[in-house]
Amino acid sequence: MEEVAEKAKHTASDQKEAVIEIKGLKKSFGKKQVLKNINLSVKRGENVVILGRSGTGKSVTIQCVVGMLTPDKGTVKVLGQEVEQLNDRELKELRTKIGFLFQSAALYDSMTVRENLEFALKRVMRVTNQSELNKRVKEMLENVGLPDAAEKMPSDLSGGMRKRIGLARTLIVHPEIMLYDEPTTGLDPITSREISQLILEMQRKYKTTSIIITHDMDCARVVSDRVLIMDDGEYKAEGSFDELSKSKDELVKSYFI
Ligand SMILES: Nc1ncnc2c1ncn2[C@@H]1O[C@H](COP(=O)(O)OP(=O)(O)O)[C@@H](O)[C@H]1O
Ligand SMILES: [Mg+2]
Repeated sequence: MEEVAEKAKHTASDQKEAVIEIKGLKKSFGKKQVLKNINLSVKRGENVVILGRSGTGKSVTIQCVVGMLTPDKGTVKVLGQEVEQLNDRELKELRTKIGFLFQSAALYDSMTVRENLEFALKRVMRVTNQSELNKRVKEMLENVGLPDAAEKMPSDLSGGMRKRIGLARTLIVHPEIMLYDEPTTGLDPITSREISQLILEMQRKYKTTSIIITHDMDCARVVSDRVLIMDDGEYKAEGSFDELSKSKDELVKSYFI
């Protein structure tokens, strides 16, 4: 009986639409082949974590997803559209549905927190109504646990708070897809844990589909529905965090020691 239910659950998730679909992706820079053969399908609402040592091509992969880099071979489909086929206007339109959080993502120093958040809404969403702006800013600051930060300047905030505001600024436009590139790098363990929890809460609240690149195993454990281990331009292992933590494979084990 349990097995039947389990099977039904799998079938249901298999039928979910793939929001990001990468097939046979290859990318070289000069003589250096960075991506050898990347295949990845991320389903709607899923959090996929990519682990891998530095320089293995994790960031290059997500740059191909948003059309900042062009693949040498293979296809990248996002929300059903092949990224390489899009013209400038279509690519811009697609990017409004994708949020990024990079390690170095900086706030505008000369703007208050409120102005930083409103800027995203005005520019990406063309929201001009002040009461709508106020409502969205208030909601998002509450989401990230900083309800009183609106009138502060970025320089008044700690590193962890700035990271939360960066996350709020990205999420305020309710992107369908979130790409997190090392969201907890450079933060202390407690702040890292808080950011990981926020990533998870935002996935649940807004049903966002996300790729999270990280070295932080605690973050991977907290946020992941599925984990991929990338090495030498390819994915070498895939599974849930728990499955991979029990793996006998030497490469996989090296991440869990
Ligand atoms: N625009 C670029 N031009 C040339 N080389 C690049 C470029 N972007 C990345 N690389 C190289 O590709 C390799 C993978 O980079 P990256 O995806 O940033 O690694 P990581 O897995 O640490 O995110 C590195 O050797 C890097 O130097
Ligand atoms: Mg990187």
